[in-house]
Amino acid sequence: MPTAVITGASAGLGRALATALAERGWNLVLDARRADRLLRLADELGRTTRLHAVPGDVGDPEHRRRLAEAAAGFGGLDLLVNNASTLGPSPLPPLAELGADQLTAILHTNVVAPLALIQLTLPALAATGGTVVNVSSDAAVAHYPGWGGYGCAKAALDHLSATLATENAENPRLRWYSFDPGDMRTEMHQAAFPGEDISDRPEPESVLPALLRLIDERPPSGRYTSTAPELAASVGEPAVAR
Ligand SMILES: NC(=O)c1ccc[n+]([C@@H]2O[C@H](COP(=O)([O-])OP(=O)(O)OC[C@H]3O[C@@H](n4cnc5c(N)ncnc54)[C@H](OP(=O)(O)O)[C@@H]3O)[C@@H](O)[C@H]2O)c1
Repeated sequence: MPTAVITGASAGLGRALATALAERGWNLVLDARRADRLLRLADELGRTTRLHAVPGDVGDPEHRRRLAEAAAGFGGLDLLVNNASTLGPSPLPPLAELGADQLTAILHTNVVAPLALIQLTLPALAATGGTVVNVSSDAAVAHYPGWGGYGCAKAALDHLSATLATENAENPRLRWYSFDPGDMRTEMHQAAFPGEDISDRPEPESVLPALLRLIDERPPSGRYTSTAPELAASVGEPAVAR
């Protein structure tokens, strides 16, 4: 069975993807900072698949080492999903008021940590011709007041994905994706709109057909949105298995 590392897997999009891959029997390495919620999910998914839940912060080098080690324990790595992310302060401040320490923290979680995890796992991914999905946002390419810190971090993450694709072109089996899921009804989205009703936003599960199609069909490396024509699945049509 293939193996995936998914960061930020205890809630939102990460949880939805982990659940879908568990149903397919994938070996999973999952993380999140809050151990209780992660371990509850691990109990649930562990009934159907082999799984390591590794509580910790992606920003911590020792934690990242444990994630890579857990993946190695499965004998190989086919998929890394850098999904864990921070929005920064809530409510979202204008850039004129974003502290240097706050911006540094955003960049550390959203850019430095994903690259460091890629560096640690690249030998294993190269061996299988695996896939890296860096979860992006439309804030990487559009400019919304208050979203500058998070948006510039996601733009940097997009840049890393595209550069990694060119730097590793000698291994054409590898795939490097930036994936923009669009608005989802999650904790992070609520933090961006504190006190507002976000019940009109779609559930993270609605993004799964597009994300699974990316993982299954492995189109050329690049930046994809969940509504990209290449990823459009008609209603009820299952994504094609790899
Ligand atoms: N929701 C949206 O509308 C939206 C739109 C565009 C893009 N995105 C992107 O989609 C991805 C998933 O977002 P989401 O809305 O699904 O988030 P979410 O529901 O808030 O879930 C975030 C997950 O990441 C974990 N996490 C957060 N910081 C972490 C860290 N430093 N180390 C390890 N785990 C961490 C959280 O658990 P703990 O808190 O316990 O660590 C949780 O499991 C993110 O990359 C986000 O930028 C979201």
